[in-house]
Amino acid sequence: MIDIDIWRLRTTVLLAVLLLATARQVTAILHTDLFNASNINDPDLHIRTQLPGVQRATTEAELEPLLTDNLEPDLRPWRQLGRPLRCRRELLSLLHQIHTVWPAYRRNFVALVLIRNNRMSWWAYPEARGWCTRRVKTIAEQFHSFIASAGMRFPDVIYVMNGYDKPLCERQQATHGSPTGATSISAAAAANSPNCSAPVFSFDKRWNASAYAAGLAGSAHDDILHPVMNHPFEQLIDYPWEKKIEKGFMRVGVYGAMAANCSRVLLQRVGGSREGRQVLDVGIYQNRHWKVKVKTVPPVPMELHARWKYLLNTDGQSASWRLAKLLAINSALLKYRSDAIEYYYRSLKEGENYISFDHTDAIQVIRGLAGRDAELQAMVARNQAFAFRYLSQHSRTLYAKVAFERYKALFSDMDDFIKQVPENFSMAWFLQERERLIAGSTGVQ
Ligand SMILES: *[C@@H]1O[C@H](CO)[C@@H](O)[C@H](O)[C@H]1NC(C)=O
Ligand SMILES: *[C@@H]1O[C@H](CO)[C@@H](O)[C@H](O)[C@H]1NC(C)=O
Ligand SMILES: *[C@@H]1O[C@H](CO)[C@@H](O)[C@H](O)[C@H]1NC(C)=O
Ligand SMILES: *[C@@H]1O[C@H](CO)[C@@H](O)[C@H](O)[C@H]1NC(C)=O
Ligand SMILES: *[C@@H]1O[C@H](CO)[C@@H](O)[C@H](O)[C@H]1NC(C)=O
Repeated sequence: MIDIDIWRLRTTVLLAVLLLATARQVTAILHTDLFNASNINDPDLHIRTQLPGVQRATTEAELEPLLTDNLEPDLRPWRQLGRPLRCRRELLSLLHQIHTVWPAYRRNFVALVLIRNNRMSWWAYPEARGWCTRRVKTIAEQFHSFIASAGMRFPDVIYVMNGYDKPLCERQQATHGSPTGATSISAAAAANSPNCSAPVFSFDKRWNASAYAAGLAGSAHDDILHPVMNHPFEQLIDYPWEKKIEKGFMRVGVYGAMAANCSRVLLQRVGGSREGRQVLDVGIYQNRHWKVKVKTVPPVPMELHARWKYLLNTDGQSASWRLAKLLAINSALLKYRSDAIEYYYRSLKEGENYISFDHTDAIQVIRGLAGRDAELQAMVARNQAFAFRYLSQHSRTLYAKVAFERYKALFSDMDDFIKQVPENFSMAWFLQERERLIAGSTGVQ
């Protein structure tokens, strides 16, 4: 399950370095050597920073539809516990689990984060994955930049941030005893409750909307989703609809952590068939999977994706962070069927925001779009408005802030506990504090 590869690591380093260099003047492109659009020179391509009639969501009230669809479902299993969490019990217990029960590769994905007096600081294991801690570092830079530029005010809060692409808090299996010593939960309640004793913030998980609607767990994981902050894409990209190439377009990388038969590879194969070539222009620009044999093609800057009428979104390791960029482009979005989500996906609906397809029906689905321009353009308008209103770095920062407030409200003692945490906190401090409480009468169980 250890699945990091060097290229990915290097790219992430490069990305982080470039992000650092451009933190204040986020441009429309993802700053990697693969998506460098600095020499785009197409008079038909329009990059917009305004959308008449639509404002960025910069207040909690403006963001509420997104919070209702996405944050609230993540909080439900924790609220359903029916009792407040305590830092001195569940949070310390989680940290103890991480330190003593989680295998090293897992705990090397996480950082302990403290926000106090509107400043974020964090600690990670010395062997922590560099690309995970760089993501946390980018988050801190973004938070601090909106504190400075937009007067953003964070609550005092302490939480565990998972910098990996996948969630870490599997639901408790009904057959499990509590492995963690959180014995205050009855066996029956435990069957339907998280096995992380306190929430962890993560970027992705899998989601079953109908299960959630039926009152069941919407996910096998109880991680609360946190916006991805290291893929800024602030502008909207337009290209004249009538000039767009009527094909389904995709340029992606394939990396060691993906399955050899992942959607990207399956779709690439369809695109190589005689029938496929008529309606698809799909290619892999970087292949780092030892089992995948493909002829790679040059990458295409994200802005130039706007030249194609249909943009195909396929998962990466889990949800593809590129989806937000595709939503900002005035082309129709075709989304490979998948239950992988980032924090905002639960606001998107098939038929309203995207057309679903997979490798078995891609050709048919694209053929079926001929002549449906009015419908597709209405979808595009909806998506650009959604991306503009909700997915900017500012709105992402606001989402995180509100998530921390509502997460904090799950606990009865967080403010009080935070007063105790030293500036130079580390895992060791929390573990010692837990020991101290166990030895005393307060009693972490
Ligand atoms: C993009 O490409 C140009 C020209 O090739 C180069 O000068 C510039 O440094 C590159 N920018 C980034 C962010 O890679
Ligand atoms: C939750 O359960 C999974 C699978 O049973 C296990 O791998 C994981 O370590 C558990 N998490 C904690 C925090 O105990
Ligand atoms: C989603 O949940 C529903 C209701 O529990 C279930 O019938 C369905 O099989 C689930 N879908 C998947 C893909 O697991
Ligand atoms: C991919 O391969 C796995 C086993 O390696 C298999 O379970 C899965 O069904 C395959 N997926 C597709 C879409 O073919
Ligand atoms: C943290 O700071 C306190 C004093 O403020 C000091 O006693 C302690 O040794 C420091 N801990 C570490 C791990 O540096």
